[in-house]
Amino acid sequence: MYAVVTGGSTGLGYYIAKALSKRKYSLILISRNEERLKKAAKELNAEWYALDLSKNYLKAGEIIKKIRPAVLVNNAGFGLYGEFSKMSTKKIIDMINLNITALTHLTKIAFEVMDKGHILNIASVAACHPQPRLSVYAATKAYVAHLSRSLIKESPPQIKVSYVLLGPTKTDFFKNAGMSTKAFKKIMLSPETVAEKIVRSMFRGKKRITPGIIYKLYCLGRC
Ligand SMILES: NC(=O)c1ccc[n+]([C@@H]2O[C@H](COP(=O)([O-])OP(=O)(O)OC[C@H]3O[C@@H](n4cnc5c(N)ncnc54)[C@H](OP(=O)(O)O)[C@@H]3O)[C@@H](O)[C@H]2O)c1
Repeated sequence: MYAVVTGGSTGLGYYIAKALSKRKYSLILISRNEERLKKAAKELNAEWYALDLSKNYLKAGEIIKKIRPAVLVNNAGFGLYGEFSKMSTKKIIDMINLNITALTHLTKIAFEVMDKGHILNIASVAACHPQPRLSVYAATKAYVAHLSRSLIKESPPQIKVSYVLLGPTKTDFFKNAGMSTKAFKKIMLSPETVAEKIVRSMFRGKKRITPGIIYKLYCLGRC
């Protein structure tokens, strides 16, 4: 049985892929950097595709159509920190294309072709409250959470949709977003621990997964 993990070469996606590999899934990793993909694929005995999903999501959709995975993890995503008016328009569009358009397209294809399986969408606790200086990123993650909530209600019984409201986690996310981790240092989650919890919760049929008690409280009654 195949599991597709976008952004599965590094960060949270790598550990989610590892947790799925432990459960005997044949992995397909999709992200941009070939070196990192090759390294992760060798370690996890995975197939890989080097694709920029902010542009080539239709190609990724074809892969999903062909292999009809039992698990799709929409994990690839990035943040953009800064004043709204000063953000790079190109980066905003790339982020919307990756965090929203690619995720929506791949989820739709999975709905079309999956016989039975799980779709796991990685949102963020940032979706649950206004986030000045993370405005567009937070809005993309609110979209992911809300799309997932609707699909949970709409999905046929054989397709289980789950979404993750993830809190600050020790990956390259902050560096890539141009954001300091100072404020979160003491409450950062470990990607390895969190990935295992997420995968376990998904297979138990949990729909809204919020690792960490402080983040559960932060998101209480929202998203
Ligand atoms: N870390 C946190 O604190 C945190 C909190 C809440 C939510 N999240 C969400 O968790 C998910 C995983 O992030 P992370 O923390 O693991 O960050 P990360 O370490 O920066 O990993 C991001 C992954 O996405 C891939 N990626 C980025 N842009 C891509 C593109 N255009 N096309 C294809 N793949 C792309 C990256 O690989 P390449 O660079 O090789 O493409 C990498 O594998 C994201 O959706 C993020 O928004 C993270």
